[in-house]
Amino acid sequence: MDSRRILLAITGGIAAYKAPELLRALRKRGHEVRCALTPEAERFVSPLVLQSLSGRTVRRDLFDAGEEGEIDHIGLADWAELVLVAPATANLMAKMAHGLADDLVSTVLLATRAPVLIAPAMNVHMWSHPATQTNLAILRSRGVDCIGPEAGELACGWEGLGRMSDPATIAAAAEARLTPKSLAGERVLVTAGGTAEPIDRVRTITNRSSGKMGFAIAAEAARRGAEVVLVAGATSLETPWGVRRVDAPSALAMRDAVLAEFEAASIVIKAAAVADFRPEAPSDRKLKKEDLPESGRLQLELVQNPDILAEICRIKGARTVVGFAAESHDVVAAAQRKLARKGCDLIVANDISREDSGFEVDRNAVLFVWPDQQVEELPLLEKSGVAAQLLDRIEKLRAKR
Ligand code: PMT
Repeated sequence: MDSRRILLAITGGIAAYKAPELLRALRKRGHEVRCALTPEAERFVSPLVLQSLSGRTVRRDLFDAGEEGEIDHIGLADWAELVLVAPATANLMAKMAHGLADDLVSTVLLATRAPVLIAPAMNVHMWSHPATQTNLAILRSRGVDCIGPEAGELACGWEGLGRMSDPATIAAAAEARLTPKSLAGERVLVTAGGTAEPIDRVRTITNRSSGKMGFAIAAEAARRGAEVVLVAGATSLETPWGVRRVDAPSALAMRDAVLAEFEAASIVIKAAAVADFRPEAPSDRKLKKEDLPESGRLQLELVQNPDILAEICRIKGARTVVGFAAESHDVVAAAQRKLARKGCDLIVANDISREDSGFEVDRNAVLFVWPDQQVEELPLLEKSGVAAQLLDRIEKLRAKR
């Protein structure tokens, strides 16, 4: 997404040690970040580290207005497009709920008109205390968003809810807060990754799909407010923020998962590289060299897998269904044949003859191939950029209906 201005407010809990990682994650995503600390936060994280990572003076004192000619606390409140409080202590939540402004962070929070996202972190009993839960309810009723806390082992020795969400998750939630909810009300089903077709207990036939393209689509759809289910093939990628994941490592498992989720979906995007064939009779134990015939040749009988995309297109009704096509030559003609054969609303064709596009890499060069023979060629983009362009087209298509 475009670069945005994010104020990272850090309050005094042990989870503040993760603030530099969060700052880096936001900067890596291209955002401009300024940091404001409470005096207690300084005990857990060094302002110098934050200053080096943000490239900006770290704001710590309510009365240091004009420091190095910089903007004052009201200016800071006005500058921010999002105020992200991470970690947010129980004390800070209480101050926010009751309008206290006795330090820089709480004053900025009272003064800002920007959306606010908090990432609480505290002891499990402090979190579940009725005072904290009432404060949270007050903050939510005023439009403050909350990410976490997560359950787990806490620094204080207790187990339970109280851990701050991890920095990558908070960064994704911050971006989602800044993204217009143009897909609200849509239920998007995405497939991603390759399939692994079993030969025996340990071996599979698979392909080079990493899942990056489909995961980027799922992440962008979730940012835009859709309810997203991601049917993931053989991939070890982490589930994007706001996405429900169903693992389906083989073509048959993927068919079952897609059909189970299809009924509820309004948009289906099939970026998975599904194997066209699978071994007919996989062994339920490990094949050993001694099992090989004397010829030393092992022959595998392959049978055709069901074509999931063609199958759902036959029953798609008012749903929008998009297929992908990985092509190494005659890209447009091959994609047009696939579109006609399968009957989907759009084919996204990748040119996989290029080293810098398609399987495994972070970028993709795609063409949108439409049923009316129109073809749109996009430049080489990050897969997140391809995902955004694709969802823009799908939104227009659905608006026309
Ligand atoms: O995962 P990455 O490393 O990021 O790489 C992304 C990608 C190159 C895998 C992706 O962008 C892509 O092109 N996916 C589709 C690849 C493919 O195998 O296309 P296909 O031409 O075999 O299949 C066409 C369409 O039919 C696809 O939408 C596929 O999901 C679907 N299909 C194919 C076979 C089958 N048995 N069932 C299907 O549903």
